[in-house]
Amino acid sequence: MKRIVILISGRGSNMAAILDSNLPIEIAAVISNRGDSAGLEIARSRKLPAFSIEHKDYALREDFDSALAMKIDEFSPDFVILAGFMRILGIDFVKRYSGRLVNIHPSLLPSFPGTKTHRKALEEGVKIHGCTVHFVTEKLDHGAIIIQAAVPVLEDDDEESLAARVLEQEHRIYPQAIRWLVEGRINREGNRVLLGGKSGGALVSPEIEPR
Ligand code: GAR
Repeated sequence: MKRIVILISGRGSNMAAILDSNLPIEIAAVISNRGDSAGLEIARSRKLPAFSIEHKDYALREDFDSALAMKIDEFSPDFVILAGFMRILGIDFVKRYSGRLVNIHPSLLPSFPGTKTHRKALEEGVKIHGCTVHFVTEKLDHGAIIIQAAVPVLEDDDEESLAARVLEQEHRIYPQAIRWLVEGRINREGNRVLLGGKSGGALVSPEIEPR
């Protein structure tokens, strides 16, 4: 069974969706950069090894990254899953886990990298918004896209209602992406992710049909 380390920063709802998805994985550890993350409590309630490495304890980003990598490497994971992990990771960290490090982002990348994605989507007046699971590269919120889900932006949406509609889809596509990863079905040709040799991987919600 593939070993997974999940990195979180807060609520942990994507982590919980992964735990609830009956995936053929072993969650080796959950690590947060904040000791008060609700997600750590969820992990502990499920008897998973859960740790915090406080980013505030490190003056230098590289030192935090090194401490995090040392902890991760104790568990020899096949994949490192960023699930609402809100720290920018440095180039050495990203290189160390290249091809094994994936993230979920609450927008249809490459639109709206960074934070406050739902606000930006509303401000720009887009009609379609969504979420993306992608491999992590040194460029923030960039990297080969594994799966995306789209949702409509409705006229009476505010940030909260839009975020909730997107989050529902996040909870569907992240477990799906991890399933493909651990089943070894993901191949890459440059920036394109190919599933079992077939092109594609992006699925439009609400009808997500696993292939
Ligand atoms: C999710 O919406 C996730 O996509 C986002 O943070 C939220 C975490 O929620 N991640 C990012 O913005 C990363 N740039 P969760 O802790 O309930 O999974």
